[in-house]
Amino acid sequence: MAGRKFCVGGNWKMNGDQKSIAEIAKTLSDATLDPNTEVVIGAPAIYLMYARNLLPCSIGVAGQNAYKVAKGAFTGEISPAMLKDIGADWVILGHSERRAIFKESDELIAEKAEHALAEGLKVIACIGETLEEREAGNTNDVVARQMCAYAKKIRDWTNVVVAYEPVWAIGTGKTATPDQAQEVHAYLRKWLVENVSQAVSDSLRIQYGGSVTAANAKELAKKPDIDGFLVGGASLKPEFVDIINARQ
Ligand code: G3P
Repeated sequence: MAGRKFCVGGNWKMNGDQKSIAEIAKTLSDATLDPNTEVVIGAPAIYLMYARNLLPCSIGVAGQNAYKVAKGAFTGEISPAMLKDIGADWVILGHSERRAIFKESDELIAEKAEHALAEGLKVIACIGETLEEREAGNTNDVVARQMCAYAKKIRDWTNVVVAYEPVWAIGTGKTATPDQAQEVHAYLRKWLVENVSQAVSDSLRIQYGGSVTAANAKELAKKPDIDGFLVGGASLKPEFVDIINARQ
């Protein structure tokens, strides 16, 4: 917690249209947001420029995915260079939906992170276990495996935020308890000391994601190794302001 700026991301996923995005942007523009919280919005690629133009400049804009090279014959893909070109300065990578639905491997996700960082983007690097993995007692092994893949490609963690998102909490309303989340975040810090460095472990921000709402954000935000949130459904609602201000 000490010295790590609280960071709250909104992951709109495949939701929204011009009207609803304008409404969210007005809500955020009109709100008094905690100046000590860094806010990033992950909009659908097709609306990124529109969202960028409407959102306050204090709020960062993120792609929800990007490929591992700058350009070429990759129909349907977008590149980090394109995200930078339209004013996005972040990209969310390795989301559990990219892993489960689109079969993205740890290795591909790590290559994407490496290229995005090289292109000057900041990366929200997602990890998290499934319910089956947790119930089998394999949570730490799973997040360690995912972090190991990132660590093989990431040399400088300055522009990285890790989002721990237990898959069983995403979109289910079954939020991890503050103690459950803190336990994994603390394990990640220990893993970072042992596999990267004490300095990175101390400075790297780790967001929690998975059914974060205005009702549970404050208690989660009190935990020493929770440095913010990656929010799905609630980021589309006015309560996202309360989640941004959870440390107040
Ligand atoms: O990336 C954030 C997302 O996976 C969490 O979704 O709806 O459970 O907040 P939600």
